[in-house]
Amino acid sequence: MLEHLDRLAPDPILGLMAAFRADSDPRKVDLGVGVYRDERGETPVMQAVRDAERAVLERQTTKTYVAPAGNAGFNDAMRRLTLGDDSPLARSERVCAVQAPGGCGALRLGAELIRVARPEAVVHVSNPTWANHVPLLSGCGLKLERYPYFDAACGGVAFEAMLSALEALPPRSVVLLHASCHNPTGADLEEAQWRELGALLERRALLPFIDMAYQGLGRGLAEDAYGLRLLAAQLPEALIAVSCSKNFGLYRERVGCLLVVGQSGAAAEATLTQLVRIARGLYSMPPDHGAAIVAEILGEEPLRAAWQRELTAMRERILQLRTAAAEALAAACPRKDFSHIVRQRGMFSYLGLDKDTVRRLREAHHVYMTDDSRINIAGLRLGNIPYFAQAVAHALGQ
Ligand SMILES: Cc1ncc(COP(=O)(O)O)c(C=O)c1O
Repeated sequence: MLEHLDRLAPDPILGLMAAFRADSDPRKVDLGVGVYRDERGETPVMQAVRDAERAVLERQTTKTYVAPAGNAGFNDAMRRLTLGDDSPLARSERVCAVQAPGGCGALRLGAELIRVARPEAVVHVSNPTWANHVPLLSGCGLKLERYPYFDAACGGVAFEAMLSALEALPPRSVVLLHASCHNPTGADLEEAQWRELGALLERRALLPFIDMAYQGLGRGLAEDAYGLRLLAAQLPEALIAVSCSKNFGLYRERVGCLLVVGQSGAAAEATLTQLVRIARGLYSMPPDHGAAIVAEILGEEPLRAAWQRELTAMRERILQLRTAAAEALAAACPRKDFSHIVRQRGMFSYLGLDKDTVRRLREAHHVYMTDDSRINIAGLRLGNIPYFAQAVAHALGQ
């Protein structure tokens, strides 16, 4: 049976990671994979995570199964972190929460739930969107379409085009939105635009499915959840997939959560039973360790404060790198505008380079980024920004 299988091309990001590892040039710069890095180029374990991990291990008396819906303390803490500590919705019966294996697991659980509730539903994703949204959402049989999102001319959101595309959708279509730190463009909606979008979704009876993978890494914990909280409070239903990979640095522990806002307590209760059945059929139970760490951090005030300080330092470093990169590129490449980099937020920005320039950067200058010229800002270091800017200038022929 298996001898008929075709060999697949490597995933572009994984292929890029392998090429970077094989490059022995000491000047090499990895702007491909989306992980946070410090000035030494490392992705360290956060101190709050180390401390919480120690406490969790000391207290743990068993490794028996948790439950298909995961760690109840974690799910409660995620409701509050996501929807806001003082939000009535965070405590409302209209919301159910299930722990998931990472943000990816939460996205897939949400997609499977939509397929059960409405198999013919079409999910509309931004153009462009994170590449993995496509297999995660369409892998269970849902149809995907794209709405306009990015305006390459200004490096911001093509808001009017986005609104008119969404306005034309049939009621009950699903609209996938990035809560903040849009991947891959770094272009986010402003508060007034979220309000306009909320009114449109309500008027047209569209269902928001919100992906939040970078809370705290854009403008702040509350600021990055502004649009999500607004839509969740205003609309009758919403799906929210949350990842703890980046803001807790727990990538390999696979920690995430799906929150579903239903029209009533009864609807949320029924939804939870469906999600438990879906999880049971996909992986049975989520891994415990990372969720126990997050529950410990969010539940213990000193740990939570320490985590927030570390997260703030990470966010401020990304902002500092954005400013330094934009200034260095402006000086090195006077004929191309890179000023959008300081207006964008989160880990990513598009440089707006063509594939040949991206290839020249990789082959001649050891600077690695995906073919669409998305860069992970956190992959830069203040120390190598001058080299990076000169490399871009050479690759552009400036
Ligand atoms: C936009 C977006 N959503 C979700 C995720 C989920 O990540 P994970 O499954 O590692 O938690 C990521 C990770 O890169 C992402 O960029």
